[in-house]
Amino acid sequence: MGLTVAIPKGRLGEQVIEMLKSAKIGESIDEKSRKLIFEDEKNNIKFMLLKNSDVITYVENGVADIGFSGKDMIMENNSDIYELYKMNIGKCKLSVAGIKGKKIFMEDTILKVATKFPNIAKKYFDSKGQKIRTIKLNGSIELAPILGLSDVIVDIVETGNTLKANGLEVLEDMYDISAMIISNRISYKFKRKEIKEIIELISKEDECND
Ligand code: PRP
Repeated sequence: MGLTVAIPKGRLGEQVIEMLKSAKIGESIDEKSRKLIFEDEKNNIKFMLLKNSDVITYVENGVADIGFSGKDMIMENNSDIYELYKMNIGKCKLSVAGIKGKKIFMEDTILKVATKFPNIAKKYFDSKGQKIRTIKLNGSIELAPILGLSDVIVDIVETGNTLKANGLEVLEDMYDISAMIISNRISYKFKRKEIKEIIELISKEDECND
């Protein structure tokens, strides 16, 4: 039985593709071409290149058997998927950031939070008893507090370079994030052997990143 694998484009995808190629799978993937589907006939695997945030949707709906997704996306979507393997790549933090010294916990104040992750932000601040209003953005989140759209942001911090370059800083770390290999119930039930085999190969490469 063949496998269909969802790979995110961008920073995480580049690392995943490199790892797959070292494991001698997905050697036909050419991320520089405009093609979105690649076949590995030797290993009977089909790869799809997707936008980061769409990987979970394809896996959850059974179109892809497994996929590579950041834990941030999984937490935000609260999806019905299995997290099968935690990788050593895509490591970063989800943090609250803003202009230096900005207070984030204030009674009787509704904090304005710009983020790609409104559900995570809501849950986090709820647990701390801080009222917030979320402002959903899709990118360049760091602009929001600088231009007065929000008080703070909730965003991914990897090197911290983007915050620094924009005069912002981490005010509070929220969660450790890394990439996960995910699957859905049906694929995991009927293609367990194939899924375990590919995870075994990838984990061998992934251990080098520890
Ligand atoms: C993410 C995130 C930050 C940046 C953090 O954005 O939203 O902007 O990476 O990384 P750093 O700490 O290494 O600087 P991404 O590159 O995904 O682009 P986006 O702004 O279009 O979402």
